[in-house]
Amino acid sequence: MKTIVFATNNHHKVTEVAGFFEKHFPGKLIIKTLAQIGFSDEIIENTETFEGNALQKAKTVSKACGLTVIADDSGLEVDYLNGMPGVYSARYAGEGCSSQDNINKLLSELEGVPMEKRTARFVSVICACLLNEEVIYAKGCCEGVILTSKRGTGDFGYDPVFYYPPLQKSFAELDLDTKNGISHRGIALRQFVSLFDISKA
Ligand code: IMP
Repeated sequence: MKTIVFATNNHHKVTEVAGFFEKHFPGKLIIKTLAQIGFSDEIIENTETFEGNALQKAKTVSKACGLTVIADDSGLEVDYLNGMPGVYSARYAGEGCSSQDNINKLLSELEGVPMEKRTARFVSVICACLLNEEVIYAKGCCEGVILTSKRGTGDFGYDPVFYYPPLQKSFAELDLDTKNGISHRGIALRQFVSLFDISKA
């Protein structure tokens, strides 16, 4: 059994990533969160790119724990808002804000904007720092449209207002496997495992 640290405490991300790895490497990998390795230092995320922030997270934690570390930096790019909230997605409505605060702000910024102009994409960049100091990046994007109100029972970030036209559902209406099958994070994870040699973990 190999152990990989996933540099997050976001339980939604943990569910998606751990679910994915369990399917791809059944019984071969243990995923530990920051809380599970007792890491509680603040991680500075101050670059303007998903790649830069993912590297900051993975590198900071790998220096501290000496294990293979993966990090996901992700967010929502809305075309009408020139790509915002982008890397600021988690704190769009201010430091310490809730997902509901972020959704409220997004919907108010898009008030009166017609459907055809509400195009957006989720982006995920996964960065891994391996024991041999190799760094691997993988990226996934998923195109959709921002709804005018919430749909579905899932409560991860912007999922209730992100509509995925091919399935005619919001992301909050999808089960875990269906979301991983089409999402930005699922795409990034599939690219990641094609580049990752588990024996190096
Ligand atoms: P990070 O922890 O800095 O990468 O923040 C990512 C933020 O982007 C999350 O807190 C969510 O607001 C948003 N986000 C990223 N991926 C998803 C997703 O799959 N569903 C909903 N929101 C997401």
